[in-house]
Amino acid sequence: MNYEKILTEIKPTNEESEIVHEIATEAIDYIDKISKKEDINVKTILVGSIAKDTWLSGNSDIDIFMCFPLNTDLSYLKEKGLFLGYECSKYMNGEAHEHYASHPYLTSHINGYDVDFVPCYNINHAEELKSAVDRTILHTNYIKKHLKDTQKNEVLLLKKFMSEVGTYGSEFKIGGFAGYLCEILILRYKTFEETLKAASNWKNKTIIDLEEYGTANLFSDSLIAIDPTDKNRNVGAALRKEKVAEFIIASRNFLNAEYKKKIEYFKNIKRKIKGNNIKEQFKDIIKQFKDRKTKIITISFDIPDVSSDSLHPQLKKTQQSITEKLEDNEFSVFKSDYWTDEENIGIFIFELNVYKQNKYYIHEGPKIWDKQAVENFLVAHNTNNINSNNINTNNTNSNNTNNFYNDDNSYYIIEDTIVLNKQREFKTAKEFIKSVLTEENIHVIKVGKNIKDLIISSYKINNIKKLLKDKDLGENNLNENPDFLNFLDDFLNPGQLLKR
Ligand code: CTP
Ligand code: MG
Repeated sequence: MNYEKILTEIKPTNEESEIVHEIATEAIDYIDKISKKEDINVKTILVGSIAKDTWLSGNSDIDIFMCFPLNTDLSYLKEKGLFLGYECSKYMNGEAHEHYASHPYLTSHINGYDVDFVPCYNINHAEELKSAVDRTILHTNYIKKHLKDTQKNEVLLLKKFMSEVGTYGSEFKIGGFAGYLCEILILRYKTFEETLKAASNWKNKTIIDLEEYGTANLFSDSLIAIDPTDKNRNVGAALRKEKVAEFIIASRNFLNAEYKKKIEYFKNIKRKIKGNNIKEQFKDIIKQFKDRKTKIITISFDIPDVSSDSLHPQLKKTQQSITEKLEDNEFSVFKSDYWTDEENIGIFIFELNVYKQNKYYIHEGPKIWDKQAVENFLVAHNTNNINSNNINTNNTNSNNTNNFYNDDNSYYIIEDTIVLNKQREFKTAKEFIKSVLTEENIHVIKVGKNIKDLIISSYKINNIKKLLKDKDLGENNLNENPDFLNFLDDFLNPGQLLKR
């Protein structure tokens, strides 16, 4: 297949390339100047996809690393790194935000581009590694040395394909393929198409070991790509199993598609949501939810000011834990997920096929053969005073059953086990959630440490329709937020990105 036309769309133009490199050079020169003036021993370099010439037009960050000598004190590195970043951001009229990887770094929005200022140690080998970000220099050097000019286009095609099928991006939110991993795939399989052909036949735990280190047995991930600059690291480690699977399925679909369809894989997907504008599209989403005849419970709450890579795992963990507890209480969860704008609001969404319960559940006691155990059970449940005024009518299996009666509980036998009907604590999933999201009870779920207090103090429960109409949430403009719209669409129609 001829990819020329696609490449002209995804490859940065000379003009764009010049702008980006000008910003980078200006930033680096300024940091050099300030560090000289302040007598800070640091070497500032351009790394990442722009340095490697493997960046996609329109959406690349500029990765600037400030490399300190190995013997630098860590607290000095952190302090001066941020200082230099802030100074440079100020000088270039940027809007700076602090983030946290293995240590703090700065992202600044400058002339429409996100520029990362990251302090690190100036290492030459993986053995010298002091912080996780130090590897980036080695990666940049390795790719610059080994990736042929003609292969850069292949990387771009792969990155673009991955983006459009939803598998690109190593940040936790996505859990997909890192840019560096795409480059490794092209080094291994040479071209975009050969990569897809190989992927379409990948077995679980496929190994890519460019430098033949033979260390793959250290790992048990779905895809094992030994870092050519560090034999003890799997570049595929942070990759979610689901994303590997999605990439494989998308590769198979692409290879089987006709030419016209193939081209569609490099374009924004035409979503199936109906409607000419976002309001109509949200209406369609609500209609789709209604059509599923499930109950939707959303929990929305304020989020803490932490980095997105810290926020997402906390949200995920909490959402999963609430789901498990709902299931434990016999509320059946068909599907659940979370969403956040990463600034103000977090939202859990639970789609339930069982959301309310009858009044009682059957509590099993011991087998009747164990006389002592039965007595203990009856004492424990206060059944010594048998009172025949309370007649148990809950038991449906009356032929095989003997009844015991007491003021509060009705005791009976099923087969050879003594049981009793106990009142459920929670009649609805909503009641259950309300009870859990309190100071006293929050410990029953696993909740992210930074979101615990905020969720208790700020949460609101809504169905989908109410959530979108909630005036208090209005400032978040949920019903105008295309990212939230797409999230709900993916929730309802998972897998639509994989096929064209
Ligand atoms: N990196 C890594 N593993 C990750 C994320 C990042 O090793 N999961 C390193 C890589 O060396 C990468 C650098 O950090 O080159 C910068 O990260 P990022 O900007 O995410 O990747 P790029 O290669 O610059 O790709 P993109 O075009 O997506 O910016
Ligand atoms: Mg980058």
